[in-house]
Amino acid sequence: MAIPFIDLGVQRERIGSSIESAVLKVIGHGAYIMGPEVKTFEANLAAFAGSKHALSCANGTDAIELILLGLGVGEGDAVFVPAFTFVATAEVVPMTRAEPVFVDIDPKTYNMDPAKLEAAIAAVKAEGRLKPAAIIAVDLFGQAADYPAISKIARAHGLPLIADSAQGFGCTIDGKQPLEWADATSTSFYPAKPLGCYGDGGAVVLNDAALLEKLISFRVHGGATPTDAATMNYTHEAKYLNVRIGMNSRLDTIQAAVLIEKLAIFAEEIELRQAVARRYNDALDGYVTSVPYVKDGYVSTWAQYTIEHENRDALQLFLREKGVPTAVYYPIPLHQQPGYAKFTSGTGDLSVSEAKSKTVISLPFSPYLTAETQAEIVAAVKAFKG
Ligand SMILES: Cc1ncc(COP(=O)(O)O)c(C=O)c1O
Repeated sequence: MAIPFIDLGVQRERIGSSIESAVLKVIGHGAYIMGPEVKTFEANLAAFAGSKHALSCANGTDAIELILLGLGVGEGDAVFVPAFTFVATAEVVPMTRAEPVFVDIDPKTYNMDPAKLEAAIAAVKAEGRLKPAAIIAVDLFGQAADYPAISKIARAHGLPLIADSAQGFGCTIDGKQPLEWADATSTSFYPAKPLGCYGDGGAVVLNDAALLEKLISFRVHGGATPTDAATMNYTHEAKYLNVRIGMNSRLDTIQAAVLIEKLAIFAEEIELRQAVARRYNDALDGYVTSVPYVKDGYVSTWAQYTIEHENRDALQLFLREKGVPTAVYYPIPLHQQPGYAKFTSGTGDLSVSEAKSKTVISLPFSPYLTAETQAEIVAAVKAFKG
């Protein structure tokens, strides 16, 4: 049988029947939008994240945009994002009319380099055209960004810190999740993510009740919050009082029902992911340019298992011929993307992002990857003599 890049089938076999009953229950009760499962899932997610609040939404991209909107980021603002990430991290910034400022990454963790963040903030301030407004750190491939260092910089400049944890939701530093340092954490439930649903989905976890109120409003067409409504005169339903320009970004009840079941086994799956990653590391260390480096005290959720190889493209072709699917995340850093090259404010040295985009390659990964299949993949990698 062909090796899948991300095998969702084993998990489906494991909890498929409980997911099916949960979905059928939603179909039966008919509250397809904002049904009771949405509230239950949000409560369970907040408990998992150790946060005061969790707000679900339609996808991980909207989750970041909702936070930016809630923070009041807009025209004339600079938002600092890594140059090496999925495009959604930067895409949401111009959607709010602010501008992304690209920051280089650490060569070992692939996450935002705190020293280069500091330099980018200084450069934007020196240029004087944009006002630094927020930082979005990304937990790339599942490993937490350097939140202790980045949050110090954020505090020193009075900037809110957002954790884009679409790939790393559940990751920890000394047992603490990114929200320990960030003002809000966003995640994605895209099916291939460590915590995925059966379609699109996303969420924000946060502790700030005032920010939560704004997110609730922006999530559904900028409706009046209780605070807004208390200060306004109206005779119709509060639901039809739209006080800000919002969006429609709700998590489907059916997806919430799926996620309740998946979240119940997520902590255990994060453990299983550690064992799979360890087996890969032990087998491949020394045979490729680099195996993933996870800092001391950090636990990755291993959204991807990403190695480096100097002859990456040839390796990818070779593995494809051997029946081993791979993926390149990401072949072009964001500052070189046609749609983003115009954002040059504060741009400094982005050479690490540029170099990594030529050498990274991700191997098949799932918490249920067997030692036998992994041995086949490893043997194929080792057979490459390029
Ligand atoms: C780092 C990062 N941010 C944001 C997103 C956006 O999530 P979604 O696809 O659910 O909109 C993704 C996932 O695709 C991602 O990997």
